[in-house]
Amino acid sequence: MNQENEARINHLLGQMTVDEKIGQLNQYFPRKSLNAGLLRQGLAGSVINASGALSGQGYSGSGNAEGCNHLQQLALEARLKIPLIFGRDVIHGYRTVFPIPLGQAAAFNPELAGQAAAVAAREASADGIKWTFAPMIDIARDPRWGRVAEGSGEDPFLGAQMAAALVRGFQGEELSAQDKLVACAKHFVGYGASEGGRDYDQGEISEPTLRDVYLPPYQAAVQAGVGTLMAAFIDLNGIPATANRHLLTDVLRGEYGFDGFVVSDWDSVKELVNHGIAEDEAHASLLALRAGVEMDMVSGVYLKTLAGSLRDGKISLEEIDEAVRRILRIKLRAGLFERPFTDITRAAREQLTPESRQLARKFARESMVLLKNDSDLLPLSGFGTVLIAGNFVHAGAELYGTWTADGRPEDVTPLDEALRQVAPPDVRLRFAESPDLALSFAQYADAVVLVLGEHPLRSGENANVSDLGLPPGQAELVAAMAALGKPLVLVVFAGRPLAIPRQVAQADAVLYAWHPGIEGAAALGEILFGLEAPSGRLPITFPRATGQVPVYYNQKNSGRPLSVDGEFRTRYVDLPTAPLFPFGYGLTYTRFRYDHLRLSAETLRGQLEISADLTNTGTRPGRELAQLYIRDLVGSLTRPVRELKDYQYVTLDPGETRRVRFKINEEQLAFTRADGTRGVEPGQFQVWIAPDSASGLPGEFRL
Ligand code: NOJ
Repeated sequence: MNQENEARINHLLGQMTVDEKIGQLNQYFPRKSLNAGLLRQGLAGSVINASGALSGQGYSGSGNAEGCNHLQQLALEARLKIPLIFGRDVIHGYRTVFPIPLGQAAAFNPELAGQAAAVAAREASADGIKWTFAPMIDIARDPRWGRVAEGSGEDPFLGAQMAAALVRGFQGEELSAQDKLVACAKHFVGYGASEGGRDYDQGEISEPTLRDVYLPPYQAAVQAGVGTLMAAFIDLNGIPATANRHLLTDVLRGEYGFDGFVVSDWDSVKELVNHGIAEDEAHASLLALRAGVEMDMVSGVYLKTLAGSLRDGKISLEEIDEAVRRILRIKLRAGLFERPFTDITRAAREQLTPESRQLARKFARESMVLLKNDSDLLPLSGFGTVLIAGNFVHAGAELYGTWTADGRPEDVTPLDEALRQVAPPDVRLRFAESPDLALSFAQYADAVVLVLGEHPLRSGENANVSDLGLPPGQAELVAAMAALGKPLVLVVFAGRPLAIPRQVAQADAVLYAWHPGIEGAAALGEILFGLEAPSGRLPITFPRATGQVPVYYNQKNSGRPLSVDGEFRTRYVDLPTAPLFPFGYGLTYTRFRYDHLRLSAETLRGQLEISADLTNTGTRPGRELAQLYIRDLVGSLTRPVRELKDYQYVTLDPGETRRVRFKINEEQLAFTRADGTRGVEPGQFQVWIAPDSASGLPGEFRL
C-alpha cells in the first residue's frame, strides 16, 4: 500500500459528508436523461458507459472522450472535486476486436492474450474509459451456458494463467499511465455453475471444488494486482454471491489480501430482495455492503438507503468509510486525481492501427482448432474450383462474437472478400449462402467449404441453449452436401462447444473457428490455403450430445470407472462415455510422435524433471502443444483422473526431434484436503506428457 495515497484518503474522508461518502459507492447509469445535479453534488463515484439492455450484443455507439470529459467536468464542480471513474465492458478488444475469450484460451498463449488486452486498454482509454469489466474468469463446465464464450474454459490452471495475463495486459506496470485500464475480475464466484446452464440461476459447489476449480483464477488475478472484482449474479449454495461475506471478505481479503474494491453486478444488490434473502432495499444494501460489495452497479439502492441505515444505527460510519477508502484507493492508483480528463486527440491515433490489426490476425490464427483432417485434405491444394457455402459466407460483424459493443461493422472485411484476397490466384472461389444455391453450385466444385455455426446473439449473457446441436437447418445442409461426395471441409463459428458428432463424421475436415474477431476471415483463409498452419487446442471438452453435459476432463474416477472390467460401469446405454473431443485436443498440418518419457528421480524431493522426445514425423514444419498432466492416485478426498500442470509449444521441422522438459514441484501437487486445509499428501502419482488430456506417455513417481 502506498502511504502517501493512504494519507490522502484519510484527509479526504475527514472532509466528506455522509452523503458524499455514500455517493462514492454509487455507480450511476444515465438511463433516460443525464442527472447533472447528481454529479455536481458528488453523489456518484462512477459512471457506467454501457450499451443499455443489449449486453454488448452489437455495436451501439461507443463512448467518446468528449462525452466522458463533459461528465467529469460536472463531477469536478462538486465540493471536493473527486473524479469519476468511467467503466465499460471492454471484453475482447475495443475497436480492434480479438477472438472471443474462449477462442483466446484455445491459443494456450496467455502472453498473446495480455498483448491483446493492452491494445484494448489503449483504445478504450482513448475514449475516456478507465475501467473495464474484464477479465471474465469463470470456470465453465456447461456449454449450454451462453457465457462460456466469455471465459477461458474448464481448466483452473489455464484459467489462472489467462486471468493473470489479462489483468497485467489491461493494467500494465503503472495503472496511472493514460493508456491503461483498471481491470475487474468477474464474476466472483462460481457463476459458471448455474444449474442447467441457465444464466442468473442457482448453483451448488462444494468447498473443495470451489477452492480447487473455481477460485484459482481469482487468486491469480489478485496476485497479478487486479484493482477490482465484480460479484456474480448466482445464488451459490443458498447465498447470493452479492451477499456472501465468507467469500468476499474472509477469502478474498483475508486469505488473498485483496486491497481494491468490489462492484456488484447490474442491479444485483437490489435483486437480493428477489432472491428472498433481503426484506427490502435497505436490508439488501446492508447485506451487500457488509459482505464486501463496495460499489452498487446502477440499482441506486445504496444511495437511497444507506444514510437511513446509518441514522438508525444499523451500520457504522467505519463500515462506510472502509468502502469509500477502497474506491478512493483505486482512483488514486489509477491516476484519476492527477489526470481526470482524456486527451481527445488520442482516439484518432491509437485505435485500430495496422499493428493492432496484425495482432488480431495472429490471435485469430492461433485460436482456431483443427479437429479432423482426413487424407490431409487441408490445406486445400490442387482444387481448381472451391465452393464456400453456408450462413457465414458474407459474415462481417458476425465474426466479432458476443460483447463487442465497440467493434464497428464497417471495420471488418466480410468473409467472402477476405478469402478472395488470401486464396492463391489459380483457385476459383464460388460463394453461396442459401442451401439451394450451395447444393447446385457444389456440382461444379472440386471441393466444398461449409462455413456454418452460431450467430453471436446465440452466445453471451443470457443466451443459453437447451440443445448443443448446430442451429436449425445446418445439419441438413451438411448431410446433403456430404451425400454429393465432394471433398468437404466444415468450418464452425461458435461461442461454445457444439455437439456435432454426425457432422464431424460426414465432413473430411473440421476446423473450429469460434468467433474470431476483426481479422478472423483473413486468418481463416491463411489456414485453409496453407499460408499458416492451425495450432489451437480445445480449452474445454466437446460433448457428443447435450445430455452428456457436464463432461470435463478433470473428473473423478468413481468406483466403477470404464477402465475396470464389469458390466455395471459409469456410462450411458445410448452413447459412448468418452466425449467427442477431449480437453487439450487439436491437430495441425504435420504429425508428432512422443517417445522415451523419463523422470529425473523416482521420488519428488523439492523438484522433479519430466522429459520426453518429441518428433515431427510429417512433411511440414509444425507447432505442437506438449502438455503435462498428473494424477494423485490416493487422497483423503478423491482426486481428479488428470490435472493439467504445465504446457509448452514446440516448433519443429520435418524429421526434427527435441527433448521437451517440464519441472514439477510440491506446491503444484497441493489440493484442498479432507480437513479443509491446502497441502500435499505423500503417495504415488501418475504423470503424462501428452498431446491432449486423453492420451500421452505415462510415468509414475512418489512424493
Ligand atoms: C451484466 C453482466 O453480468 C456483467 O458481466 C457486465 O459487466 C455488466 N452487466 C455491465 O454491463
